[in-house]
Amino acid sequence: MKINEFIQRKQSGQKISMITCYDYTFAGIINETDIDSVLVGDSGTMIMHGSKTTTEATVDEISFMIKGVSRAIDNNKVIVGDMPFLSYRKGLKFAMNTVDAFVRSGANIVKLEGVEGNQKIIKHIIGSGVPVMGHIGLTPQSINALGGYFVQGKLEKDAEKLLEQAKELSDLGCCSIVLECVPSELARIVTETVDIPTVGIGAGPNTDGQVLVLQDMLGMFKDLKPRFVRRYLDGFQLVKDALNHYHREVAESVFPDSKESF
Ligand code: KIV
Repeated sequence: MKINEFIQRKQSGQKISMITCYDYTFAGIINETDIDSVLVGDSGTMIMHGSKTTTEATVDEISFMIKGVSRAIDNNKVIVGDMPFLSYRKGLKFAMNTVDAFVRSGANIVKLEGVEGNQKIIKHIIGSGVPVMGHIGLTPQSINALGGYFVQGKLEKDAEKLLEQAKELSDLGCCSIVLECVPSELARIVTETVDIPTVGIGAGPNTDGQVLVLQDMLGMFKDLKPRFVRRYLDGFQLVKDALNHYHREVAESVFPDSKESF
């Protein structure tokens, strides 16, 4: 999938599939699938390094992840780089240095959270030839202001605000919008109102595409089962079983055998 097609998907009605990825190994597998696009999300700092929130992610960390991912992805998939906490709130120069690092590392699109106060930066990035993906609803980088990971836009006034934000992102020239943890009906209204594709996570079925965190849908965390995640694999158990199998064979001197030795 090429970047133009990503933007045109809305007209054709063909859904966009997006998955997060943070490393070369998994990116190599994703590259062999039909998945349309890869998000190198700031969630990587939690998923890969165990941080408690995404506010710990840094530009260097995400750039490093984008590099690893892009080395395994042919140009058949769109790579989105997630601008981390405050990287677009420290002035234009800092924001553009981040965009610079991300695009040079292999990102095709950059994503940033929220709208208020970001308008000038969004326009500047787009004017520099780099597509921008908006992200509204639950914006995890604002966890300290939100007070928790709650569904957003449940009250009428909040739903109206979210719709206005979506329109503004579209008017600013964003190529797409992530809708995170909003009621399905609101996601439907937003999707029908704006001309650009919406990509939902915890936003129900009425969006132009879906994104999930790779390790969530692969069941890599034993106890983490958010309602909006569907597990396509029991990754935790499969990997654990494989490791125990290896351990047993080492302990019993079954591995390595003569064919695995020089
Ligand atoms: O970082 C991330 O994984 C994200 C998705 C939740 C959209 O931003």
